[in-house]
Amino acid sequence: MRKIVLPDYKKNILRAILSLQVVESEIPKPAKNEVLVKVHAAPCNPSDIAFMEGGYNIVKTLPAVPGLEGSGIVVDAGEGAENLIDEKVCFFSQDDRDGTWSEYICLNKKNLVVLDGQMDMDQAACFSINPFTARGLLDIALLHSVPCIIQNAAGGQVAAFVRQMAEEHNIKVIDIVRKKESADQLKKAGAKYVLLEHDQDFEEKLMKLSAKLEATLALDAVGGELTGKILNAMPEGSEIVIYGGLSNQPVSGINPLGLIFKDKIVSGFNLADWREMLDDDYFDEISKAMQARFIDNTYKTRIQSKTDFDHITSGLTNYLRQMSAGKILISPK
Ligand SMILES: NC(=O)c1ccc[n+]([C@@H]2O[C@H](COP(=O)([O-])OP(=O)(O)OC[C@H]3O[C@@H](n4cnc5c(N)ncnc54)[C@H](OP(=O)(O)O)[C@@H]3O)[C@@H](O)[C@H]2O)c1
Repeated sequence: MRKIVLPDYKKNILRAILSLQVVESEIPKPAKNEVLVKVHAAPCNPSDIAFMEGGYNIVKTLPAVPGLEGSGIVVDAGEGAENLIDEKVCFFSQDDRDGTWSEYICLNKKNLVVLDGQMDMDQAACFSINPFTARGLLDIALLHSVPCIIQNAAGGQVAAFVRQMAEEHNIKVIDIVRKKESADQLKKAGAKYVLLEHDQDFEEKLMKLSAKLEATLALDAVGGELTGKILNAMPEGSEIVIYGGLSNQPVSGINPLGLIFKDKIVSGFNLADWREMLDDDYFDEISKAMQARFIDNTYKTRIQSKTDFDHITSGLTNYLRQMSAGKILISPK
């Protein structure tokens, strides 16, 4: 079989991408409670970028096969997982073994979601992470009964799902983006409150809008100075939940007086921890309900292009140039 190999972590992402190699190896054999999946496709997410830079919380023994999620068909199984053969699945892989940018992958059965037969396999490749992340973030908004949330990196896919799910619960959203074209696209698609983070009066506008709409929860995928700017502008009693570090910068600029005298809170969200907290039956319920929304096209991951292993370098550099245009899918074919 063929797989993509990262020889070494590289802080410069372009160098990391250029160093990727396609190598041949033996098809692995599934152990007890494991399955062998023939991979249909796997996306590149910001977490894969951070992984290749050596800046993520998952560090694999090198050389390593990147890729944290994907979709495919179970073609073989170890003892205890035989019932899964021939199932369409999507999967999440975080351990110190080969990742999903491979023709075949061995996975523990607990890392699979067995899919409804009608699920589109390209959409399924991006189903394990972002839709559930948005759902977990929405749960925080519902728990706090907030009328409005603020989110940055609003042109991205998690943010798109959050916007859609928030609308279904009558929660307003203030979207923050860094590029004017992203702001224009969001407005065109119906987003009502869109702010540009580099506008001179960004903080003033955010302060007025968040006070008016009672936006006391912010979902932050960027970090750096933007975290401080957002939290400082929010009303008393606000919380900012950090779930990504796209700026590659430490969180900064938070006014300590806000934390001391205005009951403001900084917290974090991680999908794997949220999943751990959920009862398996409840997770299945959420998964089935969400798959139904994908099957009827209510939810959709934007996919900008598909690339095979031999063109992965150009595919990944295109994604880096225009992340808001949608995911790139890596397909072994
Ligand atoms: N904590 C968790 O469990 C969890 C789970 C899933 C995802 N995440 C995180 O969620 C974030 C979004 O993921 P995604 O899949 O939705 O991303 P995506 O669809 O690939 O899009 C990334 C978005 O971020 C914007 N962006 C990139 N760098 C930025 C920066 N320095 N400042 C401001 N905006 C920036 C891009 O805008 P441009 O078009 O302007 O480049 C694009 O709109 C990532 O940080 C990811 O790691 C976390």
